[in-house]
Amino acid sequence: MNRVEEFVAVERPGLEAAIRRLIEPLGPPLGSAAAYAVGAGGKRIRPLLTMAAHDAAIEGGYQAGDDDERTRLYRVAAAVELIHTYSLIHDDLPCMDDDALRRGLPTTHRVYGTTVATATGAALQQVAFLALGTAARTSPGLAAHLPLIVRRLAAAVGGEGMVGGQLLDLEAEGRAPDAAGLEAIHRAKTAALISAACALGGLVAGATPQAVRALGSYGAQLGLAFQMVDDLLDVTGDPSDMGKAVGVDQARFKATYPAVHGVDGTQEQARLAGDSALDELAELPGDQSVLVGMVDFVLDRMH
Ligand code: IPE
Ligand code: IPE
Ligand code: MG
Ligand code: MG
Ligand code: MG
Repeated sequence: MNRVEEFVAVERPGLEAAIRRLIEPLGPPLGSAAAYAVGAGGKRIRPLLTMAAHDAAIEGGYQAGDDDERTRLYRVAAAVELIHTYSLIHDDLPCMDDDALRRGLPTTHRVYGTTVATATGAALQQVAFLALGTAARTSPGLAAHLPLIVRRLAAAVGGEGMVGGQLLDLEAEGRAPDAAGLEAIHRAKTAALISAACALGGLVAGATPQAVRALGSYGAQLGLAFQMVDDLLDVTGDPSDMGKAVGVDQARFKATYPAVHGVDGTQEQARLAGDSALDELAELPGDQSVLVGMVDFVLDRMH
């Protein structure tokens, strides 16, 4: 097992439990649709990054022991995953990418209908922010950072971030994309949340502003590489590995990296973004090994 696989084996059960616990209070039909969407799995990259960023920001590395502290971190990480899940439910809607398959299963709106799927995405966002407040309730240390945590996450997913990027992505369909516009779309729709996921780990750890900034920059570069590889896999990937349809970006004339830079050019740009991500890790005081390994994971992934 490499370092990332080891980390996933240790942390994923706690993370999954936290995700399930957060959506439990949602009654039907929102609760069933939310359980369906999160239960389909997924790589959980963003919450794992929150956890790994936290450990990279702790002087000398994280020492297992304070279960309450870890539980709070799982809850914050789970909140990040719920925001991501909401973004996927909405991304697949007929008014957006109109996709039928996600994480190897029919998309949420195909099973629960468009109205319930739309409402479930909206509800998950509220559940996520509620979870941040709950996590901070039992920890004065975390409560002190809560305003920053909320602002950082909200900014990443709003009109200047993910939601704005999703609109730009849809507006760019069918138009000849230029390199600068394409990068702006990818930074907003995908890299902003991945950057915030990393910064939040640092904020929960009580890291210095410089360390939080470095983690955010690492996440922004990694997030850019992540969406480039997502675009690439839409061209080169195997649908049974991916759990979603391939070839759909080209069919919809989406603004993608392969459309602008070609397959080889996209691979090269993703590697460069990965290198820039690694450069940001130099000054962090804790264990950076998982964040280092995540770069290769993102670049080499098949799904
Ligand atoms: C898919 O994200 C959406 C993009 C931003 C490209 P992931 O590839 O992380 O999806 P899951 O969570 O593993 O299903
Ligand atoms: C999705 O990008 C970005 C967000 C969900 C914010 P894509 O539309 O490329 O993601 P997939 O390929 O459907 O997973
Ligand atoms: Mg999309
Ligand atoms: Mg899509
Ligand atoms: Mg895609």
